[in-house]
Amino acid sequence: MKIDPWTSAQYADYSKLRDEFGIEPLDIAGLPEPDRLMRRGVIFGCRGFEYVRKAIMEKRPFIILSGLMPSGRMHLGHKMVIDQIKYYQKLGAHIYIAIADIESYAARNMPLDKAEHIAIEEYVLNYIALGLEAQNTQIYFQSKRQAVKDLAFLLGKRIIWSQYSAIYGFEETTNLCHIFSPLVQVGDILHPQLKQYSGPLPLLVPVGVDQDPHIRLTRDLCNAHRLLNVTFTKDGKVGIFVKGEEDVQKLLDKSKEAMQKMGYGDFNMIPKYKALYLPGATESDIPNINEVLIKMESTLNENTFYPAAATYHRFITGLTGGKMSSSNPPSAIFLTDSPEEGAKKVRSAVTGGGMTIEEHKKNGGKPEVCGVFELFVYHLMDDDSELKAIYDGCKAGKRLCGECKMQAAMLLKPFLADLGAKREAARGKVKDYLRYD
Ligand code: TRP
Ligand code: SF4
Repeated sequence: MKIDPWTSAQYADYSKLRDEFGIEPLDIAGLPEPDRLMRRGVIFGCRGFEYVRKAIMEKRPFIILSGLMPSGRMHLGHKMVIDQIKYYQKLGAHIYIAIADIESYAARNMPLDKAEHIAIEEYVLNYIALGLEAQNTQIYFQSKRQAVKDLAFLLGKRIIWSQYSAIYGFEETTNLCHIFSPLVQVGDILHPQLKQYSGPLPLLVPVGVDQDPHIRLTRDLCNAHRLLNVTFTKDGKVGIFVKGEEDVQKLLDKSKEAMQKMGYGDFNMIPKYKALYLPGATESDIPNINEVLIKMESTLNENTFYPAAATYHRFITGLTGGKMSSSNPPSAIFLTDSPEEGAKKVRSAVTGGGMTIEEHKKNGGKPEVCGVFELFVYHLMDDDSELKAIYDGCKAGKRLCGECKMQAAMLLKPFLADLGAKREAARGKVKDYLRYD
Protein backbone atom coordinates (compact mmCIF):
# COMPACT_ATOMS: atom_id res chain seq x y z
CA MET A 1 0.00 0.00 0.00
CA LYS A 2 1.31 3.42 -0.82
CA ILE A 3 1.68 6.23 1.65
CA ASP A 4 -1.90 6.95 2.53
CA PRO A 5 -3.72 10.23 2.07
CA TRP A 6 -4.55 10.69 5.74
CA THR A 7 -0.99 11.30 6.77
CA SER A 8 0.14 13.25 3.76
CA ALA A 9 0.55 16.71 5.30
CA GLN A 10 2.91 15.56 7.98
CA TYR A 11 4.45 13.05 5.73
CA ALA A 12 5.87 15.85 3.60
CA ASP A 13 8.00 16.93 6.53
CA TYR A 14 9.07 13.43 7.31
CA SER A 15 10.13 12.75 3.77
CA LYS A 16 12.25 15.89 3.89
CA LEU A 17 13.79 14.61 7.04
CA ARG A 18 14.40 11.31 5.35
CA ASP A 19 16.22 12.88 2.45
CA GLU A 20 18.26 15.13 4.66
CA PHE A 21 19.53 12.37 6.90
CA GLY A 22 19.75 9.58 4.39
CA ILE A 23 16.98 7.54 5.98
CA GLU A 24 15.60 5.05 3.46
CA PRO A 25 11.92 4.51 2.70
CA LEU A 26 10.59 1.34 4.29
CA ASP A 27 9.57 -1.29 1.79
CA ILE A 28 6.89 -3.47 3.36
CA ALA A 29 5.99 -5.39 0.21
CA GLY A 30 5.83 -9.08 0.95
CA LEU A 31 6.00 -8.77 4.74
CA PRO A 32 3.40 -11.01 6.36
CA GLU A 33 0.33 -9.00 7.39
CA PRO A 34 1.96 -5.60 7.97
CA ASP A 35 0.47 -3.95 11.02
CA ARG A 36 -1.46 -0.73 10.84
CA LEU A 37 1.49 1.50 11.67
CA MET A 38 3.35 0.06 8.69
CA ARG A 39 0.38 0.12 6.33
CA ARG A 40 -0.46 3.71 7.16
CA GLY A 41 3.00 5.15 6.74
CA VAL A 42 3.35 5.95 10.45
CA ILE A 43 6.56 4.02 10.21
CA PHE A 44 8.03 6.15 7.50
CA GLY A 45 11.61 5.06 7.04
CA CYS A 46 14.46 2.80 7.99
CA ARG A 47 18.15 2.14 7.92
CA GLY A 48 19.47 -1.22 6.87
CA PHE A 49 16.22 -3.19 7.05
CA GLU A 50 17.37 -5.73 4.43
CA TYR A 51 18.85 -8.36 6.76
CA VAL A 52 15.81 -8.45 9.00
CA ARG A 53 13.52 -8.55 6.00
CA LYS A 54 15.49 -11.48 4.62
CA ALA A 55 15.33 -13.30 7.96
CA ILE A 56 11.56 -12.78 8.14
CA MET A 57 11.05 -14.01 4.59
CA GLU A 58 13.24 -17.05 5.17
CA LYS A 59 11.72 -17.72 8.60
CA ARG A 60 15.08 -17.45 10.31
CA PRO A 61 15.56 -15.99 13.81
CA PHE A 62 16.24 -12.30 14.31
CA ILE A 63 16.41 -9.85 17.18
CA ILE A 64 14.25 -6.89 18.13
CA LEU A 65 15.77 -4.55 20.65
CA SER A 66 14.10 -1.62 22.28
CA GLY A 67 14.66 0.59 25.27
CA LEU A 68 12.56 2.66 27.58
CA MET A 69 13.41 5.72 29.54
CA PRO A 70 11.92 5.27 33.02
CA SER A 71 11.25 8.88 33.77
CA GLY A 72 7.62 9.73 33.15
CA ARG A 73 4.28 8.08 32.58
CA MET A 74 3.68 5.79 29.63
CA HIS A 75 1.33 7.29 27.05
CA LEU A 76 -0.06 6.28 23.68
CA GLY A 77 3.09 7.51 21.92
CA HIS A 78 5.09 4.88 23.79
CA LYS A 79 2.55 2.20 22.97
CA MET A 80 3.57 2.33 19.31
CA VAL A 81 6.85 0.61 20.05
CA ILE A 82 5.07 -2.24 21.80
CA ASP A 83 2.66 -2.63 18.90
CA GLN A 84 5.64 -3.10 16.63
CA ILE A 85 7.44 -5.45 19.00
CA LYS A 86 4.31 -7.61 19.18
CA TYR A 87 4.22 -7.79 15.40
CA TYR A 88 7.79 -9.05 15.24
CA GLN A 89 7.31 -11.34 18.21
CA LYS A 90 4.61 -13.20 16.27
CA LEU A 91 7.18 -13.71 13.53
CA GLY A 92 9.55 -15.37 15.98
CA ALA A 93 11.89 -12.55 17.01
CA HIS A 94 14.02 -12.70 20.13
CA ILE A 95 12.98 -9.63 22.13
CA TYR A 96 15.31 -7.56 24.31
CA ILE A 97 14.13 -4.45 26.13
CA ALA A 98 16.51 -2.16 27.97
CA ILE A 99 15.40 -0.18 30.96
CA ALA A 100 17.57 2.88 30.42
CA ASP A 101 18.25 3.58 34.06
CA ILE A 102 21.79 4.79 33.47
CA GLU A 103 20.47 7.26 30.92
CA SER A 104 17.66 8.51 33.16
CA TYR A 105 20.13 8.86 36.02
CA ALA A 106 22.57 10.74 33.80
CA ALA A 107 20.15 12.94 31.90
CA ARG A 108 17.15 13.28 34.23
CA ASN A 109 18.73 12.86 37.63
CA MET A 110 16.60 9.82 38.38
CA PRO A 111 17.89 7.58 41.20
CA LEU A 112 18.31 3.95 40.12
CA ASP A 113 15.88 2.49 42.65
CA LYS A 114 13.19 4.95 41.64
CA ALA A 115 13.85 4.14 37.98
CA GLU A 116 13.24 0.49 38.72
CA HIS A 117 9.94 1.24 40.40
CA ILE A 118 8.75 3.45 37.53
CA ALA A 119 9.92 0.99 34.91
CA ILE A 120 7.85 -1.77 36.43
CA GLU A 121 4.75 0.19 37.41
CA GLU A 122 4.49 2.37 34.34
CA TYR A 123 6.05 0.33 31.58
CA VAL A 124 6.51 -3.37 32.23
CA LEU A 125 2.97 -3.86 33.56
CA ASN A 126 1.58 -2.07 30.53
CA TYR A 127 3.76 -4.04 28.12
CA ILE A 128 2.39 -7.25 29.56
CA ALA A 129 -1.16 -5.91 29.60
CA LEU A 130 -0.80 -4.89 25.95
CA GLY A 131 0.06 -8.45 25.05
CA LEU A 132 3.82 -8.77 24.97
CA GLU A 133 4.56 -12.45 25.55
CA ALA A 134 7.16 -13.68 28.03
CA GLN A 135 8.56 -16.28 25.73
CA ASN A 136 11.85 -15.19 24.15
CA THR A 137 11.56 -11.83 25.87
CA GLN A 138 13.94 -10.30 28.36
CA ILE A 139 13.62 -6.90 29.97
CA TYR A 140 16.85 -5.89 31.68
CA PHE A 141 18.47 -2.91 33.38
CA GLN A 142 21.37 -1.03 31.83
CA SER A 143 22.92 -0.60 35.26
CA LYS A 144 22.86 -4.32 35.99
CA ARG A 145 23.97 -5.87 32.72
CA GLN A 146 27.72 -6.22 32.64
CA ALA A 147 27.93 -7.11 28.93
CA VAL A 148 26.20 -3.85 28.03
CA LYS A 149 28.59 -1.78 30.11
CA ASP A 150 31.62 -3.66 28.81
CA LEU A 151 30.61 -3.03 25.22
CA ALA A 152 30.03 0.63 26.01
CA PHE A 153 33.61 0.90 27.19
CA LEU A 154 35.29 -1.22 24.57
CA LEU A 155 33.45 -0.07 21.46
CA GLY A 156 34.17 3.52 22.43
CA LYS A 157 37.74 2.82 21.33
CA ARG A 158 36.68 3.37 17.74
CA ILE A 159 35.25 6.84 17.98
CA ILE A 160 37.09 10.01 18.80
CA TRP A 161 35.89 12.98 20.76
CA SER A 162 35.57 15.39 17.86
CA GLN A 163 33.17 13.05 16.03
CA TYR A 164 31.31 12.13 19.19
CA SER A 165 30.73 15.66 20.37
CA ALA A 166 29.72 16.71 16.87
CA ILE A 167 26.89 14.16 17.01
CA TYR A 168 25.60 15.07 20.45
CA GLY A 169 26.62 18.67 20.91
CA PHE A 170 27.54 18.25 24.56
CA GLU A 171 28.38 21.36 26.53
CA GLU A 172 31.25 22.19 28.83
CA THR A 173 28.86 21.65 31.73
CA THR A 174 27.48 18.25 30.67
CA ASN A 175 28.20 15.61 33.29
CA LEU A 176 30.38 12.70 32.20
CA CYS A 177 27.77 10.05 32.95
CA HIS A 178 25.50 11.75 30.44
CA ILE A 179 28.34 11.98 27.95
CA PHE A 180 28.92 8.27 28.35
CA SER A 181 25.27 7.23 28.10
CA PRO A 182 25.03 7.06 24.27
CA LEU A 183 27.76 4.45 24.38
CA VAL A 184 25.68 2.51 26.90
CA GLN A 185 22.85 2.63 24.37
CA VAL A 186 25.22 1.25 21.74
CA GLY A 187 25.95 -1.52 24.26
CA ASP A 188 22.21 -2.11 24.63
CA ILE A 189 21.71 -2.36 20.92
CA LEU A 190 24.57 -4.69 20.14
CA HIS A 191 24.88 -6.98 23.17
CA PRO A 192 22.14 -9.42 22.08
CA GLN A 193 24.48 -10.50 19.30
CA LEU A 194 27.13 -11.67 21.75
CA LYS A 195 27.66 -15.40 22.06
CA GLN A 196 26.19 -15.60 25.57
CA TYR A 197 22.94 -14.07 24.31
CA SER A 198 21.48 -14.75 20.84
CA GLY A 199 24.75 -14.61 18.89
CA PRO A 200 25.19 -12.69 15.63
CA LEU A 201 21.73 -12.29 14.06
CA PRO A 202 19.92 -9.62 12.08
CA LEU A 203 18.77 -7.03 14.58
CA LEU A 204 16.24 -4.24 14.38
CA VAL A 205 15.50 -1.30 16.67
CA PRO A 206 12.07 0.27 16.11
CA VAL A 207 12.33 3.88 17.29
CA GLY A 208 11.17 7.44 16.95
CA VAL A 209 13.36 9.48 14.70
CA ASP A 210 14.86 11.38 17.64
CA GLN A 211 16.92 8.26 18.31
CA ASP A 212 18.61 8.36 14.92
CA PRO A 213 21.93 9.77 16.21
CA HIS A 214 22.29 6.69 18.43
CA ILE A 215 21.48 4.44 15.52
CA ARG A 216 24.07 6.07 13.31
CA LEU A 217 26.69 5.88 16.03
CA THR A 218 25.87 2.21 16.53
CA ARG A 219 26.08 1.42 12.84
CA ASP A 220 29.36 3.29 12.52
CA LEU A 221 30.81 1.37 15.43
CA CYS A 222 29.62 -1.95 13.98
CA ASN A 223 31.35 -1.09 10.79
CA ALA A 224 34.52 0.11 12.49
CA HIS A 225 34.89 -3.24 14.23
CA ARG A 226 34.65 -5.34 11.13
CA LEU A 227 37.82 -7.00 9.91
CA LEU A 228 36.44 -7.43 6.41
CA ASN A 229 34.52 -5.35 3.99
CA VAL A 230 32.65 -6.60 0.94
CA THR A 231 31.97 -4.08 -1.81
CA PHE A 232 31.15 -3.58 -5.41
CA THR A 233 34.22 -1.92 -6.90
CA LYS A 234 34.30 0.90 -9.40
CA ASP A 235 35.31 -1.48 -12.14
CA GLY A 236 32.26 -3.61 -11.53
CA LYS A 237 33.66 -6.43 -9.41
CA VAL A 238 32.59 -7.89 -6.09
CA GLY A 239 35.55 -7.89 -3.76
CA ILE A 240 36.20 -8.88 -0.15
CA PHE A 241 38.85 -6.67 1.46
CA VAL A 242 40.80 -7.02 4.67
CA LYS A 243 40.56 -3.71 6.47
CA GLY A 244 43.56 -3.79 8.84
CA GLU A 245 47.14 -4.84 8.49
CA GLU A 246 47.00 -7.93 10.69
CA ASP A 247 46.34 -11.53 9.66
CA VAL A 248 45.76 -10.52 6.08
CA GLN A 249 46.58 -13.88 4.55
CA LYS A 250 44.65 -15.78 7.18
CA LEU A 251 41.56 -13.62 6.65
CA LEU A 252 41.75 -14.00 2.89
CA ASP A 253 42.08 -17.77 3.20
CA LYS A 254 39.18 -17.98 5.65
CA SER A 255 37.05 -15.83 3.36
CA LYS A 256 37.83 -18.01 0.42
CA GLU A 257 36.93 -21.11 2.39
CA ALA A 258 33.62 -19.55 3.44
CA MET A 259 32.86 -18.51 -0.13
CA GLN A 260 33.64 -22.00 -1.39
CA LYS A 261 31.09 -23.36 1.07
CA MET A 262 28.59 -20.89 -0.39
CA GLY A 263 29.22 -22.38 -3.81
CA TYR A 264 31.60 -19.90 -5.39
CA GLY A 265 34.36 -21.55 -7.39
CA ASP A 266 36.12 -18.76 -9.17
CA PHE A 267 38.52 -16.56 -7.13
CA ASN A 268 41.07 -13.89 -7.71
CA MET A 269 43.12 -13.38 -4.55
CA ILE A 270 45.57 -10.47 -4.49
CA PRO A 271 47.23 -10.33 -1.06
CA LYS A 272 49.12 -7.17 -2.00
CA TYR A 273 45.73 -5.39 -2.27
CA LYS A 274 44.40 -7.39 0.69
CA ALA A 275 41.67 -8.44 -1.71
CA LEU A 276 39.70 -11.49 -2.71
CA TYR A 277 37.66 -10.89 -5.86
CA LEU A 278 34.68 -13.06 -6.76
CA PRO A 279 34.22 -12.93 -10.54
CA GLY A 280 31.09 -15.08 -10.25
CA ALA A 281 29.27 -12.72 -7.88
CA THR A 282 27.05 -9.75 -8.66
CA GLU A 283 26.21 -6.69 -6.66
CA SER A 284 22.94 -8.18 -5.46
CA ASP A 285 24.83 -11.10 -3.88
CA ILE A 286 26.61 -8.76 -1.47
CA PRO A 287 24.14 -9.02 1.44
CA ASN A 288 24.31 -12.83 1.33
CA ILE A 289 28.08 -12.75 1.16
CA ASN A 290 28.28 -10.28 4.01
CA GLU A 291 26.08 -12.47 6.22
CA VAL A 292 28.39 -15.43 5.69
CA LEU A 293 31.42 -13.24 6.40
CA ILE A 294 29.85 -11.91 9.61
CA LYS A 295 29.33 -15.48 10.87
CA MET A 296 32.92 -16.41 9.95
CA GLU A 297 34.41 -13.26 11.38
CA SER A 298 32.57 -13.63 14.66
CA THR A 299 34.58 -16.78 15.35
CA LEU A 300 37.74 -14.65 15.17
CA ASN A 301 36.52 -11.45 16.76
CA GLU A 302 33.66 -11.45 19.23
CA ASN A 303 32.78 -7.84 18.49
CA THR A 304 31.49 -8.69 15.05
CA PHE A 305 27.90 -7.72 14.59
CA TYR A 306 25.24 -7.41 11.98
CA PRO A 307 24.87 -3.67 11.50
CA ALA A 308 21.92 -2.72 13.68
CA ALA A 309 18.90 -1.80 11.57
CA ALA A 310 16.26 0.70 12.59
CA THR A 311 12.78 1.71 11.56
CA TYR A 312 11.49 5.16 12.35
CA HIS A 313 7.98 6.09 13.31
CA ARG A 314 6.36 9.48 13.33
CA PHE A 315 5.40 11.11 16.59
CA ILE A 316 1.77 11.11 17.53
CA THR A 317 0.21 14.56 17.80
CA GLY A 318 -0.94 15.51 21.26
CA LEU A 319 -4.51 16.42 22.13
CA THR A 320 -3.51 20.01 22.76
CA GLY A 321 -2.16 20.38 19.23
CA GLY A 322 1.61 20.04 19.74
CA LYS A 323 3.58 16.97 20.75
CA MET A 324 2.11 14.28 22.93
CA SER A 325 4.31 14.55 25.97
CA SER A 326 4.32 13.28 29.55
CA SER A 327 5.36 16.70 30.76
CA ASN A 328 2.13 18.19 29.37
CA PRO A 329 -0.58 15.87 30.79
CA PRO A 330 -3.57 17.28 28.87
CA SER A 331 -1.70 16.51 25.63
CA ALA A 332 -1.34 12.82 26.38
CA ILE A 333 -3.53 9.82 26.93
CA PHE A 334 -1.68 7.91 29.61
CA LEU A 335 -2.18 4.19 29.72
CA THR A 336 -2.98 4.54 33.40
CA ASP A 337 -5.61 7.23 32.81
CA SER A 338 -9.03 6.14 33.97
CA PRO A 339 -11.51 5.65 31.12
CA GLU A 340 -13.30 8.82 32.15
CA GLU A 341 -10.08 10.87 32.27
CA GLY A 342 -9.13 9.62 28.82
CA ALA A 343 -12.54 10.44 27.40
CA LYS A 344 -12.42 13.89 28.94
CA LYS A 345 -9.10 14.69 27.27
CA VAL A 346 -10.54 13.58 23.95
CA ARG A 347 -13.59 15.74 24.40
CA SER A 348 -11.51 18.84 25.06
CA ALA A 349 -8.96 18.11 22.32
CA VAL A 350 -7.78 20.59 19.72
CA THR A 351 -8.78 19.20 16.31
CA GLY A 352 -8.16 20.01 12.69
CA GLY A 353 -11.71 21.28 12.35
CA GLY A 354 -12.82 24.67 11.05
CA MET A 355 -13.14 27.69 13.34
CA THR A 356 -16.93 27.46 13.19
CA ILE A 357 -19.30 24.71 12.19
CA GLU A 358 -20.33 26.73 9.16
CA GLU A 359 -16.76 27.11 8.02
CA HIS A 360 -16.05 23.45 8.67
CA LYS A 361 -19.06 22.43 6.60
CA LYS A 362 -18.01 24.77 3.83
CA ASN A 363 -14.28 24.13 3.62
CA GLY A 364 -13.90 20.77 5.32
CA GLY A 365 -11.47 19.93 8.13
CA LYS A 366 -7.83 18.97 8.22
CA PRO A 367 -7.58 15.40 9.42
CA GLU A 368 -3.89 15.36 8.56
CA VAL A 369 -3.13 17.72 11.44
CA CYS A 370 -5.82 16.47 13.78
CA GLY A 371 -4.84 14.72 17.01
CA VAL A 372 -8.23 13.04 17.31
CA PHE A 373 -7.95 11.63 13.81
CA GLU A 374 -4.48 10.36 14.71
CA LEU A 375 -5.97 8.43 17.61
CA PHE A 376 -7.91 6.44 15.03
CA VAL A 377 -4.94 6.09 12.69
CA TYR A 378 -2.42 5.04 15.31
CA HIS A 379 -4.46 3.21 17.87
CA LEU A 380 -8.20 2.96 17.84
CA MET A 381 -9.23 1.81 14.39
CA ASP A 382 -8.03 -1.26 12.59
CA ASP A 383 -10.26 -1.12 9.56
CA ASP A 384 -8.61 0.92 6.79
CA SER A 385 -11.83 1.57 4.90
CA GLU A 386 -13.63 2.89 7.97
CA LEU A 387 -10.69 5.21 8.54
CA LYS A 388 -10.76 6.39 4.95
CA ALA A 389 -14.47 7.17 5.28
CA ILE A 390 -13.78 9.41 8.26
CA TYR A 391 -10.97 11.12 6.39
CA ASP A 392 -13.12 11.74 3.34
CA GLY A 393 -16.10 12.84 5.41
CA CYS A 394 -13.96 15.35 7.28
CA LYS A 395 -12.39 16.70 4.11
CA ALA A 396 -15.80 17.13 2.55
CA GLY A 397 -17.12 18.95 5.62
CA LYS A 398 -19.71 16.26 6.19
CA ARG A 399 -18.17 14.82 9.28
CA LEU A 400 -18.06 17.04 12.35
CA CYS A 401 -15.49 17.04 15.12
CA GLY A 402 -18.12 16.21 17.72
CA GLU A 403 -18.79 12.90 15.99
CA CYS A 404 -15.11 12.02 15.91
CA LYS A 405 -14.64 12.90 19.54
CA MET A 406 -17.63 10.84 20.56
CA GLN A 407 -16.46 7.87 18.57
CA ALA A 408 -12.88 8.17 19.80
CA ALA A 409 -14.03 8.40 23.42
CA MET A 410 -16.29 5.41 22.90
CA LEU A 411 -13.42 3.32 21.58
CA LEU A 412 -10.91 4.62 24.11
CA LYS A 413 -12.93 3.95 27.25
CA PRO A 414 -13.21 0.17 26.97
CA PHE A 415 -9.60 0.02 25.82
CA LEU A 416 -8.40 1.81 28.97
CA ALA A 417 -10.72 -0.16 31.22
CA ASP A 418 -9.58 -3.45 29.78
CA LEU A 419 -5.94 -2.43 30.01
CA GLY A 420 -6.36 -1.52 33.68
CA ALA A 421 -7.77 -4.96 34.44
CA LYS A 422 -5.03 -6.68 32.47
CA ARG A 423 -2.41 -4.62 34.30
CA GLU A 424 -3.60 -5.98 37.61
CA ALA A 425 -3.50 -9.50 36.26
CA ALA A 426 0.02 -8.82 34.97
CA ARG A 427 1.51 -8.21 38.41
CA GLY A 428 2.16 -11.85 39.05
CA LYS A 429 3.89 -12.26 35.70
CA VAL A 430 6.46 -9.48 35.92
CA LYS A 431 9.16 -11.86 37.10
CA ASP A 432 8.81 -13.91 33.91
CA TYR A 433 9.97 -10.91 31.90
CA LEU A 434 12.54 -9.17 34.07
CA ARG A 435 16.21 -10.13 34.24
CA TYR A 436 18.43 -8.81 36.97
CA ASP A 437 21.69 -9.52 35.20
N1 TRP B 1 17.38 6.65 24.60
C1 TRP B 1 16.09 6.03 24.61
C2 TRP B 1 15.03 7.08 25.00
O1 TRP B 1 15.35 8.20 25.27
C3 TRP B 1 16.04 4.84 25.53
C4 TRP B 1 16.95 3.72 25.11
C5 TRP B 1 18.00 3.23 25.80
C6 TRP B 1 16.85 2.94 23.93
N2 TRP B 1 18.57 2.19 25.14
C7 TRP B 1 17.90 1.98 24.00
C8 TRP B 1 16.00 2.96 22.83
C9 TRP B 1 18.11 1.07 22.97
C10 TRP B 1 16.21 2.05 21.81
C11 TRP B 1 17.27 1.12 21.88
O2 TRP B 1 13.87 6.76 25.06
FE1 SF4 C 1 -10.45 15.82 13.14
FE2 SF4 C 1 -12.74 14.52 12.85
FE3 SF4 C 1 -12.71 17.15 13.19
FE4 SF4 C 1 -11.89 16.11 10.92
S1 SF4 C 1 -13.94 16.01 11.75
S2 SF4 C 1 -10.90 17.69 12.07
S3 SF4 C 1 -10.92 14.24 11.64
S4 SF4 C 1 -12.02 15.61 14.66
